Amino acid sequence: MAAPTGAAPDGGSLIRTLPGHAYSTPESFAREQERIFEALWFCALRSADLAAPGAFRTVPIGRENVLVVRNTAGELRAFLNVCSHRGTRLCTEESGTVRRTLRCPYHSWSYDLDGSLVAAPHLARMPQLDRGAHGLRPVALREWLGYAWLCLADRPPSFDTEVRGAVTGRLGDGAAIDHYRVDTLALGRRIRYDVRANWKLLIENFMECYHCPTIHPELVAVLPEFGGGYAAQTGVGRGVAFAEEARGFTVDGGEGFGRLPEIADHQDRRYFAITVRPQVFINLVPDHVIVHRMFPYAYDGTVIECDWLYAPEVIASGADTGRSVELFHRVNEQDFAVCERTQPGMASRAYRAGGVLVPAERHIGEFHSWVTGMLADPPGPPDPTDGPEGPG
Ligand code: FES
Repeated sequence: MAAPTGAAPDGGSLIRTLPGHAYSTPESFAREQERIFEALWFCALRSADLAAPGAFRTVPIGRENVLVVRNTAGELRAFLNVCSHRGTRLCTEESGTVRRTLRCPYHSWSYDLDGSLVAAPHLARMPQLDRGAHGLRPVALREWLGYAWLCLADRPPSFDTEVRGAVTGRLGDGAAIDHYRVDTLALGRRIRYDVRANWKLLIENFMECYHCPTIHPELVAVLPEFGGGYAAQTGVGRGVAFAEEARGFTVDGGEGFGRLPEIADHQDRRYFAITVRPQVFINLVPDHVIVHRMFPYAYDGTVIECDWLYAPEVIASGADTGRSVELFHRVNEQDFAVCERTQPGMASRAYRAGGVLVPAERHIGEFHSWVTGMLADPPGPPDPTDGPEGPG
């Protein structure tokens, strides 16, 4: 499932994949947690999931757990989910609501919804305790497309370059995504999948369509170009056309919903797929948007939350989104099943040196180069003994 290259990339030599151990060892996953998921912008949750002040959600990112809460001013805040007293996890629930403070269950230190320490037992008798120095550790947060994106890095990379830039790079125009008004859409359905496969297998699968004719009959019926297997996300700006007989992006090609009001004519009856590394897939069709967020938790385990988003009036009307949701739900199940089937092979001696990418998958090599680059040690300081020798 992805957008077309335009020309079929036939010919050329095969490219090696990453070796099997990159997908099958706790050590490689630990390095990815540190160098990738704790370093880049991570799409954590849908802003509307935390509707009212005091609503919170906890999100695993890399080796950390992050607490995201809506403060009394109605803004989202994110903190490491660690009490500054003795390090206890403040919130163990995945989601919930507090009134005005976050209270640690161990010794009852309490923090306001901006993370400041506001109360502690015997606080008045401890003048040496500087409240200002013992708040919760903040985490960088940006909201875009109706989602909260977090970054654990001390100096986060440019959001415009890394996140918006990925979308612009795929669509060819920074305003193209705006036409879908994703931040104004309403949640029609969310399905959470627990996939026993390495997160990179899921990205690689999403990036290529060599497998589409084999495992995605419903998708190919709506997007016949995918039947050629030569679709990829390397084409800039051009979406995949719907079949002439398809009336909508639904499991049986039947009628969907009205086209989102601001999309351009060249976006109508077309499908666009975007990967925002390291953990987001965005699918755009004329009447809805599908957003996948991956939460890798082990070298062989990834939770995926998939949201189907529609115009608010579609959801408010109580319209049946079932056939619309079912198309990509089937695609998800088909994809995740083959990724789970692939995962055990990653640890086999047969795959020790990896496999190959055929020409239709060649662009996945760029993803592998990116992963390898992210995991590489930065160049160290120059060795002082390497310089020209001085006199004497
Ligand atoms: Fe949280 Fe003591 S560890 S109050």
